[in-house]
Amino acid sequence: MKAIEIRQSFLDFFRQAGHTIVSSVPVVPQDDPTLLFTNAGMNQFKDVFLGTGNRPYKRVANSQKCIRVSGKHNDLEEVGHDTYHHTFFEMMGNWSFGDYYKKEAISWAWELVTSLWNLPKKNVWATVFKEDDESEQLWKDVTDIQHSHILRFDEKDNFWEMGETGPCGPCSEIHIDLGEGYCDRQHVRGHVCGVNSGCARFIELWNLVFIQYNRDPSGKLKGLPARHVDTGLGLERAVAVLQEKKSNYQTDLFIPIMDRIGEITGKPLGEDATLPSFRVIADHIRALAFAITDGAIPSNEGRGYVLRRILRRAARYGRNLDMHEPFIYRLVSPVVDVMASAYPELRERVQHTTLVIKSEEERFNEVLDRGIEIFEEVAAAIIKKGQKIIPGEEAFRLYDTYGFPLDLTELMAREKGLSVNHQSFDTSLEKQRRMARKAAKFSAVQQGEWDDVSSGSESTFVGYETTESKARIRKVRKDGDRIELILDQTPFYGEAGGQVGDRGEIVGDGFRVRIDDTQLQGDQIIHRGRIVEGGNVSQKPVQVKVNKQERLSTARNHTATHLLHKALKEVLGDHVNQAGSLVSPERLRFDFTHFEAMTPEQIDEVEKRVNLHVIEDLPVEKFEATLGEAKRMGATALFGEKYGETVRVVKVNDYSMELCGGTHLDRTGEIGYFRIMKEEGVAAGVRRIEAITGESADKVLREQKHILSQIQAMFKCREDEIEQRINALFEERKELQRKMKSAQKSSASSDMNRIIRKASRIDGIQVVSSSMVVDSVDELKNLGDQLRHQLQSGVGVLASVMGDKVQLLCIVTDDLIHEKHLHAGHMVREIARLVGGSGGGKAHMALAGGKDTDRLQEALKRVPEIVKKYMASSKT
Ligand code: ALA
Repeated sequence: MKAIEIRQSFLDFFRQAGHTIVSSVPVVPQDDPTLLFTNAGMNQFKDVFLGTGNRPYKRVANSQKCIRVSGKHNDLEEVGHDTYHHTFFEMMGNWSFGDYYKKEAISWAWELVTSLWNLPKKNVWATVFKEDDESEQLWKDVTDIQHSHILRFDEKDNFWEMGETGPCGPCSEIHIDLGEGYCDRQHVRGHVCGVNSGCARFIELWNLVFIQYNRDPSGKLKGLPARHVDTGLGLERAVAVLQEKKSNYQTDLFIPIMDRIGEITGKPLGEDATLPSFRVIADHIRALAFAITDGAIPSNEGRGYVLRRILRRAARYGRNLDMHEPFIYRLVSPVVDVMASAYPELRERVQHTTLVIKSEEERFNEVLDRGIEIFEEVAAAIIKKGQKIIPGEEAFRLYDTYGFPLDLTELMAREKGLSVNHQSFDTSLEKQRRMARKAAKFSAVQQGEWDDVSSGSESTFVGYETTESKARIRKVRKDGDRIELILDQTPFYGEAGGQVGDRGEIVGDGFRVRIDDTQLQGDQIIHRGRIVEGGNVSQKPVQVKVNKQERLSTARNHTATHLLHKALKEVLGDHVNQAGSLVSPERLRFDFTHFEAMTPEQIDEVEKRVNLHVIEDLPVEKFEATLGEAKRMGATALFGEKYGETVRVVKVNDYSMELCGGTHLDRTGEIGYFRIMKEEGVAAGVRRIEAITGESADKVLREQKHILSQIQAMFKCREDEIEQRINALFEERKELQRKMKSAQKSSASSDMNRIIRKASRIDGIQVVSSSMVVDSVDELKNLGDQLRHQLQSGVGVLASVMGDKVQLLCIVTDDLIHEKHLHAGHMVREIARLVGGSGGGKAHMALAGGKDTDRLQEALKRVPEIVKKYMASSKT
């Protein structure tokens, strides 16, 4: 069976058993800040398991794109060294939401594996959690597995958890014994093949998890209201088993990729020395292609840094195959060929994915060889000293200067039997961060404890409804005239979600504080400012006032940001995702995923669409909903934001809907006018737009109008004639330049007679020297020929300044070559020296160049003297 058929047979089997088949969600989670990448099929159903969400079905199955490179499930280190771990893989799964439970899950799994896929029953093993008597009994009752093939294991192997928190429960796994020949650990002393013994002979195929608990942030297990089934079967392993291959990399999921690596590198496929590199690269390109397709971009933090590490690892393994030019991007195409029938988005975004990988690869390539060299030097020195540990400072230098992720340096160290000192690496990193933080912080009160002023609830935000309120100060800390305050309640918005903190004033009995910034720290809203009057705060109520004008300007920019986000998706495509944003009273800045620079037409179109929705004066609704409800309504969620179970939705009519905690307008008409000021790239695959609205846009428009009317006044024309006038002016200028050149040239040749008339006589020989206006060396040579001809008997030196260089030409008439033995090449070389250059040539004509244009006149003056010297020497 081909991989495609195996995938389909799984889905068909569960469809027949009453399951709805759903699509895979992207590998970049849309609304789960606890995950960097989708790591299991159940991720998209987390809310159902926790009892906070519903689905219109109780049984469901799919094939899910997964990446396991961070957090609780991280297979990165295994990849390449064995034949069955991957960073990216497909997890096929079936789920029951409070519907069937252990019995059906076990019996279907058995049926599929032994009847539909015909794996010999004698090779199938089952494991159960050590306390799960029920599952063990079910294996005996509902299947005909050999009883000796049912084994019990503890939490490590048979209790599955999604992450540090989240749904979890005991599990039962199916392992396949592939036969003795498959063991890859024979060389390990004391190794005995068996289930969970770490060799490739017994392969874990399918995990049946019985979800009954939620692990909360404090680490406690809490029972769930209903019991669910969550299963996961690795497609790559199933395909290897069914196609009877020793390695996942030998199946039809990988062969085209492995073949292409062979073609590109020219290395034979499957040789022991190169095999791990082949595997790593083939594995990593799949993870990169899927993640970038789904909107991730290599960068310096979070998910982006994981991608960067994967790509850099692949590039380093490429060096093992003697690849010194970018090549990984060329492997996107075989990945698309193999996978796009199941995941068509790969083909839709192939160009983007290829370009992102290529440009990231190019960047790293520039420093990779130098980094490897430095590593080799460091490693050699360590080995020479008989030591085994690379100092963290050296690993940090490679990280900081050459972009070597720590795990890459570690990998290289391991290959030499060395390790890296993590502690001193962390210390160096922390030192650098501290310095960066120090440089960034200026207005905050840096030290000092908070003083309690009054007690009770803190930091209730009332700023959606009002910009002014009474409040009580709960805490204060001071540093000179700098002050920070925490209130019981406040209309001040603390910086979050890209929107800057509010500014304004807090006035109390005998004191006044100007607030320059408001920050959100955890749940606390911290007001930062300067004491303008008084300074002694008390328990008495204070008056709190946000600067209304600024708040309104910020709201204009924030609502406009949502319109912009939507318009960009419409104009450029659905791959556009917010990658960052800044919303202040003055302007908005929006970073988004898109590879190429926008064309002027696209920028125009986006601006037009936003303004259209401004003119339509659409209502902006803000309301609260559960995360599940909001998602179902189709609200856009942004990664990196912490969404609780209740979220705030900002909805602009039926045009845009985003989860957002910011302050917004009530109607889009208040934006006034939207204007894009700049579009530029900020990183590979990330573009940035800066735009203005309202008063700022009005101001810019009026300034531009002013400039236009000044230009109009200069030209004394109508506005619509300006372009034509400027074009005409340019044309005129070009024509004048042309005329000037040709006038200079014709004067150059008519000057020839004049130049000859002015020739000096040295021992009866005519010597001509002059600078000319010409465009090229050829023209200078033509003039030289002319001079030789007209001069009849003599020596001539012509010079011309071209750009920032001097060109010199020397000619000698035939008679003097024979009679006086003068040589143009020798003389021109000597003259060229005077202008910082050199040259040479034949006796009758020779060229030279120099760079000291300032010294040309002086050099020409010395020509007679030089000719005289050569005549004198020819006599002797
Ligand atoms: N969620 C389970 C796993 O990932 C099935 O293994």
